[in-house]
Amino acid sequence: MTSTAAGNRAVVVRGTILHYLADPGETSNPASWELFEDGALAVDNQGKVAWAGPASRLPHRLRQTARQEDHRGKLIVPGFVDTHVHASQVDIIASFGEQLLQWLERYTFPTEAKFADRAHAREVFGFFLDRLLEAGTTTASVFPTVHSVSVDAFFEQAAARNLRMLSGKVLMDRAPFAPDFLRDASIEQAERDTRELIERWHGKGRLGYSLTPRFAPTSTEAQLAMVGRLLKENPSLWLQTHLSENREEVALVAELFGVRSYLDVYDRFGLVTKKSLFAHSIYIDDTDRRKLARAGSSVAFCPTSNLFLGSGLFDLHATRETKVDVGMGTDIGAGTSYSMLQTLNEAYKVTALQGRRLPAHRGFYLATLGGAKALDLDGFIGNFAPGKEADFTVLDWYATPTLARRVKVAQTFDERLFALMTLGDERAIAATYVLGHAAYRRHS
Ligand code: GUN
Ligand code: ZN
Repeated sequence: MTSTAAGNRAVVVRGTILHYLADPGETSNPASWELFEDGALAVDNQGKVAWAGPASRLPHRLRQTARQEDHRGKLIVPGFVDTHVHASQVDIIASFGEQLLQWLERYTFPTEAKFADRAHAREVFGFFLDRLLEAGTTTASVFPTVHSVSVDAFFEQAAARNLRMLSGKVLMDRAPFAPDFLRDASIEQAERDTRELIERWHGKGRLGYSLTPRFAPTSTEAQLAMVGRLLKENPSLWLQTHLSENREEVALVAELFGVRSYLDVYDRFGLVTKKSLFAHSIYIDDTDRRKLARAGSSVAFCPTSNLFLGSGLFDLHATRETKVDVGMGTDIGAGTSYSMLQTLNEAYKVTALQGRRLPAHRGFYLATLGGAKALDLDGFIGNFAPGKEADFTVLDWYATPTLARRVKVAQTFDERLFALMTLGDERAIAATYVLGHAAYRRHS
C-alpha cells in the first residue's frame, strides 16, 4: 500500500460488534466475549483498531473522523482465520469417491503439477483469495505447491490485497509417496529454494513464511532434519504440516518410521514448536495432546474435509481440555466450502456425533481469536483490542429467507448467532474489510 492510501484508512464503522477475549468453552462463559448491540469500531489512519465499544460512548475526538460507514442492523466480527487450506487445490474441490492416499494420487498430485507454470499459479491464487474475501476470511495458513514460482505467485497475490497470510514452499522428496513429477530433486536444492523464498517474503508487509513439509510419508528423514535445522536457526519462521488424518496414513507412517506415535516423527526432528500447526490430528492420544500443549503447538480442525474424505471425527473436547490451541480450517480442496460458517456448521455435527456440543460463541471464537492464537498471530489480529489490525467481516442476519425467518423467531442473541453459524454461508457476508477498507462487498 502507498502511504497516501494508508493515510485514508481512518474510519468509524457502526453496527453490532462482537469479539472474543478468550475461549467461551462448551458452556459459553460470558466473560470471554464483548458484545455491543449498538456498537462503533474506530480504525486509525494506519488501519489499526483505535477503539471499540457502545456507539454512545465513542470518544469525542473519534467522532470527528472524516469517514463513517453504517452497518447498523448487521453483525461485525473480526475477519475469519482459515488455519489450513490448499490454494493449489481450487480445481479439485468435490472430487468423487476416494479416501486420503488414493485421493492424493488420483486428483491432488496431477492438479498440483500445473503450478510449475507461474501464470497458472497467479490466476488460480487470485481466484482463491477472492473466494476467501467473499467468505469473510482475511487471514489463512496456505499450502501452495512444491514449486518456488507457486510461492512467489501466492505471496504476490496476497500482497496485492494487503492480506496477512502465511505460506511456504511445499517440501516433498520421498519416493514413491511423492511422485517423480512433484518431488524435490535433493535436500540441497530444497534448502536453497526455501532459503531464497524466506529471504524474499518472510516479514515482508503482512506476510510470514511457513516451512511446509507436506506430511511424514512424502519427506525423507534427511529432509525433515533439514527443516528442523532451518526452524532452529530462525525461530521466527512458522511450520505447517498434516498429522494423523486417516487410518491408512497412520499405519503407513508407523511402518515407514517405526514410531509409537505419528507425532513422534515430527518431534524427532524438532518440528513440534510454538510456531507449528498440525492439520487434522484425529488419531492422536492424550500423550500426544500433552506434548502439543507443552510445546505450544496447535491444531487445525477441518470438519468438511474430514467428513468428505471419510477421515474421521476430530475430538475438539479432548484437544481443548488438554489446552492445545485449535483453529478452524477449510482444507480446500478436500474440504467442500470456503465458508467459515459452513465449516462451523459441520464442526457442530462432528461434535454432536461424539455426544458433545459446539455453542455458537465457541464456534465464532475458534474462527477468529482461536485461529489467530493457533497461528501465533494474536498479537496482530483476532479481536478488536486497540492496536490490532482492523480486518473485519460484516454479517447479514437476513441473508436468505430461511435464515431471516429463523433469526426473527429467535429469543436470544445466542440463538440468533447459532442460526447464523448453522445456516449462513457466503450469502451472509455483506462485506469484508482489510485494514479498515472494504476489500469485498456483496452485491444484492
Ligand atoms: N495430507 C497430505 N497432503 C494432503 C492434502 O493435500 N490434503 C489433505 N487433506 N491431507 C493431506
Ligand atoms: Zn491439508
